[in-house]
Amino acid sequence: MTKKTSFNVAVVGATGAVGEKIMHFLEEKNLPINELKLLSSARSAGKKLTFKHKEIIVEEAKPESFKGIDIALFSAGGSVTEKLAGEAVKHGAIVIDNTSAYRMDPKVPLIVPEVNASELSKHQGIIANPNCSTIQMVVALKPIREAFGLSRVIVSTYQAVSGAGLQAPGELMNQTKQYLNDEEMTAEILPAGSDKKHYPIAFNALPQIDVFQDNGYTAEEMKMINETKKIFSEPDLSVAATCVRLPVVTSHAESVYVEVDKAGVTVEDVWEVLNGAEGIVLQDDPSTQTYPTPLSSADKEDVFVGRVRKDLDNDRGFHLWIVSDNLIKGAALNTVQIAQTLIKNKLI
Ligand SMILES: NC(=O)c1ccc[n+]([C@@H]2O[C@H](COP(=O)([O-])OP(=O)(O)OC[C@H]3O[C@@H](n4cnc5c(N)ncnc54)[C@H](OP(=O)(O)O)[C@@H]3O)[C@@H](O)[C@H]2O)c1
Repeated sequence: MTKKTSFNVAVVGATGAVGEKIMHFLEEKNLPINELKLLSSARSAGKKLTFKHKEIIVEEAKPESFKGIDIALFSAGGSVTEKLAGEAVKHGAIVIDNTSAYRMDPKVPLIVPEVNASELSKHQGIIANPNCSTIQMVVALKPIREAFGLSRVIVSTYQAVSGAGLQAPGELMNQTKQYLNDEEMTAEILPAGSDKKHYPIAFNALPQIDVFQDNGYTAEEMKMINETKKIFSEPDLSVAATCVRLPVVTSHAESVYVEVDKAGVTVEDVWEVLNGAEGIVLQDDPSTQTYPTPLSSADKEDVFVGRVRKDLDNDRGFHLWIVSDNLIKGAALNTVQIAQTLIKNKLI
């Protein structure tokens, strides 16, 4: 622990979709930053980015880049984290990582500050930021779980293309033009850049996000399942997920079915615990067609919840619709909030 009041911060992947938003929130939330170092691959080294009206030259990320760094925010893909996070820690930095590299490591806290900030004190140098689709779901489920208990979660996602990196929205736009011009659509990124086949996303829905696992689920689905259990510290919680990519640019939507432990809970009871809960905005009024959508939730910090209904057959079952900006609360904002909490709780 230090008595420092301002910190040297590095952003690894500063030129990417998440990195760009991390820089925005470091500035907007006014983190006490002494020096900001921006790192990328050799491709973007030399590029100039602006932070607090000052130009900073992007450098290639190397092991020695972390000398003198107090906090390193990683969003450059799992292999970069695997290669460089340990080096950053060796140089004395605390790493907050956006990739899946360390999320399930028992020594690494997996943090959503509204849900499990108390786990932060257990960190040993690396802290993981959960998957975007997990973050928004656990923020919305936390007050329900606290008030009524939670035994089962079944989620189907409707995810935006920006979740697949900076290039994916361009692919959607190109394919849209091709489709409207009666041309054949070219697909090179989705459903998963590293997989063998690619399918058009424009005017389509792809039931594959990330690659398939041996059990028939995709890696994205297994992330949602395993991360939810870890964040709630409840390995026996029943969680199932189906993750689908839609031709939406920003904000993931989720249809979530939950079973609570307590009998006799009403929709009004669920509204009451959601209303005013940290990080949540309730938008739920069928009489005025009020509910969140990806477009209405984009560029906003909160997790929006609507369409709360009681299951017609199970007294303990409820259906919800949860929407949030995947690049903001789903990634960059949560990362910056972890850094803020570390500083506030004097854990650095
Ligand atoms: N998009 C989301 O909604 C979301 C949400 C949560 C987590 N994440 C995770 O965050 C990570 C980044 O996602 P993204 O959407 O921001 O991707 P992206 O737009 O493709 O950006 C990737 C960034 O990583 C840098 N990079 C690539 N290879 C590198 C290397 N060898 N060394 C150093 N930097 C390197 C790139 O630099 P260059 O400019 O030099 O290529 C770029 O800055 C991924 O692991 C992703 O799973 C994404």
